[in-house]
Amino acid sequence: MHRHTVHKHPFMAKYLRSSTSLLVFLIMVFMINSASGQGGSGREMVPAMFIFGDSLIDNGNNNNLPSFAKANYFPYGIDFNGGPTGRFSNGYTMVDEIAELLGLPLIPAYSQASGEQVLHGVNYASAAAGILDITGRNFVGRIPFDEQIGNFQSTLDQITDSLGADDAARAIGRCIFFVGMGSNDYLNNYLMPNFPTRNQYNAQQYADFLAAQYTQQLTKLYNLGARKFVLAGLGLMGCIPSILAQSPSGTCSEEVNLLVQPFNANVKTMINNLSANLPGVRFTYMDVAHMFEDIVANARTYGFSVVNRGCCGIGRNRGQITCLPFQTPCSDRDQYVFWDAFHPTEKVNIIMARKGFNGDQTFIYPMNIEQLANLDNEIN
Ligand SMILES: *[C@@H]1O[C@H](CO)[C@@H](O)[C@H](O)[C@H]1NC(C)=O
Repeated sequence: MHRHTVHKHPFMAKYLRSSTSLLVFLIMVFMINSASGQGGSGREMVPAMFIFGDSLIDNGNNNNLPSFAKANYFPYGIDFNGGPTGRFSNGYTMVDEIAELLGLPLIPAYSQASGEQVLHGVNYASAAAGILDITGRNFVGRIPFDEQIGNFQSTLDQITDSLGADDAARAIGRCIFFVGMGSNDYLNNYLMPNFPTRNQYNAQQYADFLAAQYTQQLTKLYNLGARKFVLAGLGLMGCIPSILAQSPSGTCSEEVNLLVQPFNANVKTMINNLSANLPGVRFTYMDVAHMFEDIVANARTYGFSVVNRGCCGIGRNRGQITCLPFQTPCSDRDQYVFWDAFHPTEKVNIIMARKGFNGDQTFIYPMNIEQLANLDNEIN
């Protein structure tokens, strides 16, 4: 939906007087495009991707918030070109890889996106954020899903100004909306002793409450023009180093895995419900829990030797205290499933992204992201 139109470039007339100058000019345009990160691969399958979620996919939205949930310090980003950015990973997150597979440039954080960059998409994800506004308040600053949707509305106004209402609406209907919410509604709400939630709801009731809220939020995005959704389910949260560290046996907490199961079940039902009620909508479900099971079951094949300990962190399973500023991480990061107490390594993020992009229906259904991107659009 965005292309730099070379003939409008103010330097053009001046430089086109000789072919040598033309070459200089083209190199300059190339450098400007590369420097501003608007290159992409030149094969964009969709106009843009808009991203909503939490720390698994945040890429810097919390950096300037008064928040304890930040990752803009070394050794986060140790394997990322450009170092720490606010990504809770040693390198790429899952959506970085998906953007690349879609032929898009890296999608900028909402807090940093400017000008025409937003035409390729924006990442609104915020560490500690949840479906519920109150989730994550233990970290103080964070941008809950409702507010992320509000920020998308601002972007939409910007896009509408730039393309005009008709073209903007047509383009938005072809974009991918990647939504991965819910982890913090458990980790930084239900499972926190200082939240009242556990006394108010049992596991099923809480999952129903979250699904009702989630349904309204996704319907709001639909009403703003979104049609192609990828919903990421929750991983096996009972197996992350932070939970393993609290488990007396040192094995995955069955209790936590069972607690989040009704949420994933509800998301699948919710997708059926929304698909029946919202004309022209397309949802696909990314089964992150199954992807994780597959990685652990076939760890050796994937090249992992450590599945139950963070690469950077302190204490049992290196999961009691998560990765601290300037802590020295493990050196063999591609052999670790977990980067810190809560988040996977870049290698896991990339494996999952690829399975989501062109994997089979055991990992993403009813269709993968490539198929979703290629679907013809019925504009309603
Ligand atoms: C799906 O729709 C049914 C029928 O309206 C409703 O009872 C149920 O709560 C919905 N479930 C979810 C998870 O949205």
